Amino acid sequence: MPLVDMKDMLHHGYDNGYAVGAFDLVSLDFLEGIISAAEHCRAPVILSLAESHFDYFDFELIMPAVEAAVHRATVPVAIHLDHGASLDTAVRAINLGCNGVMVDASHEPMPDNIRCTRDVVNMAHACGVPVEGELGYVPGVEGEDAERHPGEITYTTVAEARSYMEQTGVDFLAVSIGTVHGRMKGKPELDFQRLKQINEALGVPLVIHGGTGLSDDQFRRLIANGVAKINYYTALSDAAAKQINENTRAGASSGFTGLVKNIRTVVAAEVERCMRLWGAAGRADEVLSCCRPWMPVEHLIIYNVEGIDKTGAETMIAEGRQVLSTIPGVREVFTGEAVQDAAKYRYTWLVRFCHSAVIDSYREHPGHVTFADRLFRPVAGERISIDYQMIDPVACGSSNVVIQST
Ligand code: 13P
Repeated sequence: MPLVDMKDMLHHGYDNGYAVGAFDLVSLDFLEGIISAAEHCRAPVILSLAESHFDYFDFELIMPAVEAAVHRATVPVAIHLDHGASLDTAVRAINLGCNGVMVDASHEPMPDNIRCTRDVVNMAHACGVPVEGELGYVPGVEGEDAERHPGEITYTTVAEARSYMEQTGVDFLAVSIGTVHGRMKGKPELDFQRLKQINEALGVPLVIHGGTGLSDDQFRRLIANGVAKINYYTALSDAAAKQINENTRAGASSGFTGLVKNIRTVVAAEVERCMRLWGAAGRADEVLSCCRPWMPVEHLIIYNVEGIDKTGAETMIAEGRQVLSTIPGVREVFTGEAVQDAAKYRYTWLVRFCHSAVIDSYREHPGHVTFADRLFRPVAGERISIDYQMIDPVACGSSNVVIQST
């Protein structure tokens, strides 16, 4: 599974003078187009899911498809929550499989932005997940005309950026230096001097939102001044819409499927153009060899119960499933009862963590502590508890998942 640590991925771009594209996807056509472009030009890629687009797809339903696409890919991928609006969304994204999250409180006054971002950083870092914060304000709405959302740009200042980084602990910073989300008339003026100073002061991968509409030369200068992640959506949306219009003009006769024909192809073409321009093309193998793979951990407990009957055990298990599955970093909670009557241990918990960092944060989480102290330990007799780091089957040259005790 070529899911890689997003912090490692962006530092590779930062250290080697290229930027990874974070392409917002709104449908399976976008997902397939983005991945096929990355495969075609051997580029690392970030699959981005923006909270502002949650009206257009069901986050819970699309994430398994995103993970299946990553599972099948041969290039390094990260899955990112774009413009997360709250701590709850960030937890939900991590528990659904995102291994990078953005919290966007850039429209709030600085102290509120810092407070909100710090809460997300504390939670996400305890799950091993890096965080992107935004400082300054990039107006506009992805996929729409910038003139319809003419909010004022607030530029990021060097002093605020330094203080924000120190106080929040974010891993990457989205800066406002003149870009706008959405479709613009004319070219935006970018403040490269400001970007250069922020980069010199911070020394961390910087992020540009509102990638659509910038010139080739502007992209090159952004990357030369520390930008390692470029967010891009409106141009993909426009390419897809243009294709639908062409299909209509050509008299598409087979209903919906005729109208959406070739969307994957046009999305892939635009994504690949960006990957080549931003220097990410051809970097996949290097990234795979030097970035940590993103691997889940299975927390396994086998146990017997004492002092309660089967119904009591089922009540305790049902409560545990409910409480434990909401803990940040918990992907899934499986519970089971032994098939064989003679089994030495009758019951099992199998809790899948998104990352090994969750072993500690889960153990200390108040929800787990209360459940374990109040309901589980008093009735759990003999038991065995082990955390298993999953091993990448591709790296093992096998198609079966192998587990190994840590
Ligand atoms: P554009 O839609 O202007 O490309 O911006 C995308 C973006 O910044 C997503 O966060």
